[in-house]
Formats: sequence, structure tokens, C-alpha cells
Amino acid sequence: MDSRPIGVFDSGLGGLTAVRKLLEVLPGEDIVYLGDTGRVPYGGKSRETILRYAIDDTEFLMRRNVKSILIACGTVSSNALREVQEAAGAIPVTGIVELSARKAANSTRSGKIGVIATAATIRSGAFGNAVRRYLPDASVTEKACPLFVPLVEDGRIHPGEPLIELCAREYLAPMQEAGVDTLILGCTHYPLLLDVIRGIMGPDVTLVNPGEETALYISRELTARNMLSGRNDGGSQRYFITDNSEKFGSVASLFLGRDAGQFVTHTDITE
Ligand code: DGL
Repeated sequence: MDSRPIGVFDSGLGGLTAVRKLLEVLPGEDIVYLGDTGRVPYGGKSRETILRYAIDDTEFLMRRNVKSILIACGTVSSNALREVQEAAGAIPVTGIVELSARKAANSTRSGKIGVIATAATIRSGAFGNAVRRYLPDASVTEKACPLFVPLVEDGRIHPGEPLIELCAREYLAPMQEAGVDTLILGCTHYPLLLDVIRGIMGPDVTLVNPGEETALYISRELTARNMLSGRNDGGSQRYFITDNSEKFGSVASLFLGRDAGQFVTHTDITE
């Protein structure tokens, strides 16, 4: 048994979609979340900057004595997984790329798989490469969707809302043209757009939610390694953010599906 907390980090608050699943499957675990809200978005930045931020985030969680690290951020998972693993030493690190690629490869019937994510994630090619490791003949269509993150943070997540519909139809057109039957939502924010995306892509396209896949994997891994806390409920949550935004409450409850205001601490990442 291991009573240390599980560490989760993201460039901002989108990673709370993974925490939401963790809270559901592992209610007895303590969770420490770092949202680098002072430096978000990472998705339009260079690889060098993303690496530097990712190491800061990892070291922050290591100082909180975590037993496992979940990189909820698609941009960090696709650009800096190896570097984060090196920085974490013996602490197991799980990113979102491999598990969602495997899920997509197992789900597709036609071999036509789509990936939507931030510009830096698409530029890395990480999702496409991972899918082809599982399914060498897969045809992968990738598309950066830079306007999705600000629209989600502005609460534009409901089907029928003109701005999000316009944007989503344009971003998803290449997926429809390619006839994908499986679509990876390769960014923390996109699960909030599930209904909008499903409305456009139709009910027959499988949508892969990486945060959920990763949370389920961590639950299985910690169980297999006998690293759970031994409690069935009552796990604590601490949310550290690097910018004291007034928007925290509303945006966080959007992702988390519950109020987290009392568990939030504004922090300096180097502390
Ligand atoms: N968390 C980022 C991701 O999943 C999205 C927000 C950002 O660009 O930093 O890629």
C-alpha cells in the first residue's frame, strides 16, 4: 500500500477532465493537480518552451512526493514524455498518447483514424506515429484546432451555438472527407465538445477520450503494483494553479463537474 498522492498536471484546467475520471474510479486516493494557468496555452509554443515548462511542472509534483504522474496535457504528452520520465526517475509517468492510440487502433474497423489536437501536438506527429505502431496500415488524418481551447474556456460547448458549430464544422471537414470511423480527441479540452463533435461526425464514429483512458489505466496499474492507498473513499484533492484567475471557479467546475473552489492554492511553480 502507498498513501502518497497521485500527481496530475496540465498546462491549465482542461486536465481536470482526467481528474474527474480518477475521482470516479479511485475515490480513496489523494490527488495533487497542477494547472499552469499562468503560462497556458502551451499548444502554440515551441518544443523548447514546452520542454522547459514540462520539467518545471514535473519537479513541482515531485516536491509534493507523488507516487505516480499523469500528464493530462496532450501537448506535453506528445512533445516531452521522455524528458518528463527522465525527470521523474523511479516515479511512473503516464501520458495520453500511447493509450489513446491503442484504443483507436482497437476500435477502428476501416483503419481510417482521425486526430484533432493543438498545433504543437499535431506538429510532433506523436499520435499518428503511435497509431501506426499498433496498426501499420492505418490511414491517419491529423488536424490542429487552435480555436477550440479558447472557445471551450469561454463556455461555448453546446451544440447549436453558432461560433463553436462554425469552427467545429471547418476543423472536422477533413475528417469527414477522409471517412474516419475513429477520432482521437487529443487535447484536454476537447471532451467538453463531445456533443458538438458527435453531432457533426455522427453516431457511428468512435470518439476516443484520452483523459478517461489514462485515468482507467492508472487505476489498473496502481492496483497491479499494490500502490493504492487502501482506502475506498475520502481521498483529498489539492489544486495548485500558477495564476490567480477569477475565472478559475467557473472553468474548473465545467471540467470537473463539481465545485473545487475550497481546494485551490495559488502557487509559484518554483516554490
Ligand atoms: N492542455 C493542452 C493540451 O491538452 C491544451 C491547452 C494548451 O494549449 O495549453 O494540449
